[in-house]
Amino acid sequence: MKVLVTGGAGYIGLHAAAALLENGHEAVLLDNLSNASPGATSALAGLAGRTAPFLKGDVRDSRFLDGVFEGGGFDAVMHLAALKSVDESVENPLRYYANNMAGTVSLLQRMAAHGVRTLIFSSSATVYRDSPELLTETLPTEPSSPYGRVKLFEEEILRDVHAADPEWRISILRYFNAVGAHPSGLIGEDPTRTSTNLLPRIGQVALGLRERLEVFGDDNPTPDGTCVRDYLHVMDLANAHIAALEFLRPEPRLAVHNLGTGRGHSVLELIRAFERASGRTVPFRIVTRRAGDAPISRADPARARAELGWTATRGLDRICADQWRFLSSHPNGFPE
Ligand SMILES: NC(=O)c1ccc[n+]([C@@H]2O[C@H](COP(=O)([O-])OP(=O)(O)OC[C@H]3O[C@@H](n4cnc5c(N)ncnc54)[C@H](O)[C@@H]3O)[C@@H](O)[C@H]2O)c1
Repeated sequence: MKVLVTGGAGYIGLHAAAALLENGHEAVLLDNLSNASPGATSALAGLAGRTAPFLKGDVRDSRFLDGVFEGGGFDAVMHLAALKSVDESVENPLRYYANNMAGTVSLLQRMAAHGVRTLIFSSSATVYRDSPELLTETLPTEPSSPYGRVKLFEEEILRDVHAADPEWRISILRYFNAVGAHPSGLIGEDPTRTSTNLLPRIGQVALGLRERLEVFGDDNPTPDGTCVRDYLHVMDLANAHIAALEFLRPEPRLAVHNLGTGRGHSVLELIRAFERASGRTVPFRIVTRRAGDAPISRADPARARAELGWTATRGLDRICADQWRFLSSHPNGFPE
């Protein structure tokens, strides 16, 4: 299949493209480079003996998209282009509505106009109401941030689009916490970009780019008091996109799947695992809890296992080893 990957120069987009190439598909990357560097896209060239063409542009730009789809011959779109900081979305919600939601509407309009009606959409665990139990797709949604609300609204838009034209094939993937890097060490999450995610921050401390890590609270109702999350190796996540493409192949449908491991690890466990993998110490200090941080968030991955035939296979040590291989070979990030 020939697949357009929006947000393709970003962290997960690059790995999704790698999975496409490794599985014999073609990938074309589209990105406005608001959170990625051009060097990221050429790093793919060393993988799978092939590369993926890169198109610089914005998913909100209809004219640009028309040019992309005309003669593009795409079978499907993986839509990952979005801003992704929960904290920033609280401070500046309109930025998230304008970029993420308007971007999705614009993309759907141009896809419909060009007869491309197969879409894999990056949603997020942030659509759920906090719960210490495993989160299943049937649980009530109740996002606690504008970022999560926009994801939920986008899911609703996709349901409306599918209801109006059931020929659409739509896979909504609710990612839990993506971490790690491709085992080649050629691609990963750029350590020089600002990230509020935990593992990139741990990596920055190990590299000496940050003095110490701030751990938000050790008084949560969890075994060691720090927050527990479901960390998913980014190549497990990328391979789920290939499984979702296969799932959509037989007939038009709309489906929602959690992508996670079903296991939780605390912040302190993650720090220790990273120290083992890197051989570096990661100094940290405990600061007050952040408002709105759920103590525990873990996926129930049973539906993805049953329907997509997909399951995560890589654990915490592998995640940290792959992350460190990439970070230690790219301490200054991808070339600009
Ligand atoms: N990283 C995670 O753990 C996680 C968890 C849940 C959901 N997600 C979702 O997965 C997707 C990818 O996340 P990521 O971690 O790779 O983030 P990322 O920031 O590395 O990648 C997103 C890419 O989209 C691009 N982009 C943003 N707005 C754009 C626009 N209007 N037009 C074109 N390109 C645009 C950015 O330049 C960036 O390269 C996002 O939709 C995010 O919300 C990520």
